[in-house]
Amino acid sequence: MNRLSATFLAYWNDKVVGYFTLINDSIVAEAVSESDREPTWAYRKYPAIKIARMARHRDFDNNGIGTLMLLRIFVITLHVSQFTGCRIITVDSKTGAVEWYRKKGFTLAQMRPRDDYVPLYMDFHRFVSQEEMHPLKTLGDFFKKILEQRMFSPNNTSIKYNRPPYPNTSL
Ligand SMILES: CC(C)(COP(=O)(O)OP(=O)(O)OC[C@H]1O[C@@H](n2cnc3c(N)ncnc32)[C@H](O)[C@@H]1OP(=O)(O)O)[C@@H](O)C(=O)NCCC(=O)NCCS
Repeated sequence: MNRLSATFLAYWNDKVVGYFTLINDSIVAEAVSESDREPTWAYRKYPAIKIARMARHRDFDNNGIGTLMLLRIFVITLHVSQFTGCRIITVDSKTGAVEWYRKKGFTLAQMRPRDDYVPLYMDFHRFVSQEEMHPLKTLGDFFKKILEQRMFSPNNTSIKYNRPPYPNTSL
């Protein structure tokens, strides 16, 4: 483990059906739409967490596995944001997945796309704070909204860190 990235595996029963990798990131303020900017922020960049890799097993098309992994990414980033400032999730999407991310609430970053990927971001703080309720309830409502989308047998799915760094650690 090099601690430069963290990879999680998504299981359905005992079968690996997807994975995602997260790394720390930052995004320049100008790449974020004005409505997502924080006027009091003193730095040129916002801290972020990047989805560096995400893919679902080809045999499990349209079963909600991508949505389930994204939901877990929200849980992880919200958890991390309680310990170190971070409210933006970034992704350099393959061109074929841009619409998928947009459907999930990501916004095109205001920076020049490259031929091979398109930068997007999500300011998840907006979703959470809009409710203006107790944080736990807000979080529950937030997840409920996401879970209203079709899911892949959630009772049979689990997501595990590929090599737990500490005993009894779970997210
Ligand atoms: C992008 C990816 C992770 C989505 O996972 P998934 O398990 O297929 O997605 P879900 O089952 O949760 O979502 C299904 C919904 O998204 C839509 N969808 C799936 N892939 C899509 C795509 N590439 N573009 C637009 N919509 C897409 C489906 O039509 C379905 O819509 P519906 O709910 O209205 O019926 C998966 O397609 C994948 O692994 N792609 C290859 C690798 C990749 O592109 N990774 C992302 C780049 S970082």
